[in-house]
Amino acid sequence: MTKPVVLIAEELSPATLDALGPDFEVRHCDGADRSQLLSALPGASAVLIRSATKMDGEAIAAAKGLKVIARAGVGLDNVDVPAATKAGVMVVNAPTSNITSAAELAVGLMLAAARNIAPANQALKGGAWKRSQYGGVELLDKKVGIVGFGRIGQLVAERLKGFGMEILAYDPYVSAQKAGQLGARLVTLDELLAEADFISIHLPKTAETLGLIGKDALAKAKKGVIIVNAARGGIVDEAALADAIASGHIGGAGLDVFASEPTTVSPLFDHESVVVTPHLGASTEEAQEKAGISVAKSVRLALAGDIVPDA
Ligand code: MLT
Repeated sequence: MTKPVVLIAEELSPATLDALGPDFEVRHCDGADRSQLLSALPGASAVLIRSATKMDGEAIAAAKGLKVIARAGVGLDNVDVPAATKAGVMVVNAPTSNITSAAELAVGLMLAAARNIAPANQALKGGAWKRSQYGGVELLDKKVGIVGFGRIGQLVAERLKGFGMEILAYDPYVSAQKAGQLGARLVTLDELLAEADFISIHLPKTAETLGLIGKDALAKAKKGVIIVNAARGGIVDEAALADAIASGHIGGAGLDVFASEPTTVSPLFDHESVVVTPHLGASTEEAQEKAGISVAKSVRLALAGDIVPDA
């Protein structure tokens, strides 16, 4: 009997294969290579992806026989969920797999930006001992504005409370009471922008959030604020942020995500006060293992015709 084909379109933890077990024919392709993806999809019952593979309408139409798209991570912005639903393809993700890793990276970027760790490192390794040039600021007693107070935003708040920060949260879907229980003061976006010394973004990328932190929002932000985005590129308008940093209104930024990925070019890369990483939020052994096991289990259940529980 032929085994159902599971296509792994991005590098996943070896634990994924163990959790899939022996009942499938596993094939691999580079999902970021469009033509490779489109020719590998027909005949696959399931495709496993991270963020570099675009499962849009065209890819879904090419995937004759596909039953499941499994996203080994949280965000589903690279999957056309309505097109998948219309084609009868189930979409599963691993919504809690990498939340700790993402939160820890956001805190890391905040500290790095506050203390100029990246440029000081670069200077010292380049032979320059620049103590006076790279002074920074403390987090203690500062206000951090968490934009998007879901699972990851809450983990970031919990960690930053340990640094003695006051937590402001903006999230239209969270009540003031719930925010209060978590040690945060729920505010409007304008209040957050006016008060926060640091801002950390933790929103999904949707039509509502795209460009949310654009020119107008940046103009309302407190002078010198440091902005961290380890959520999704495009929520912060990169050109507007680069201008606001160049003008001195925004003090610096820590960015893990970009409107277009992969990228090696951005006006933001010209600024020493901007520390960047190439979408590494979920790239830890622990997160990848959890994500891989979670989606492998969901794929097994879905292809067996069983109910896939919410992760
Ligand atoms: C996510 O949405 O969980 C991350 O972007 C995962 C990833 O980096 O693949």
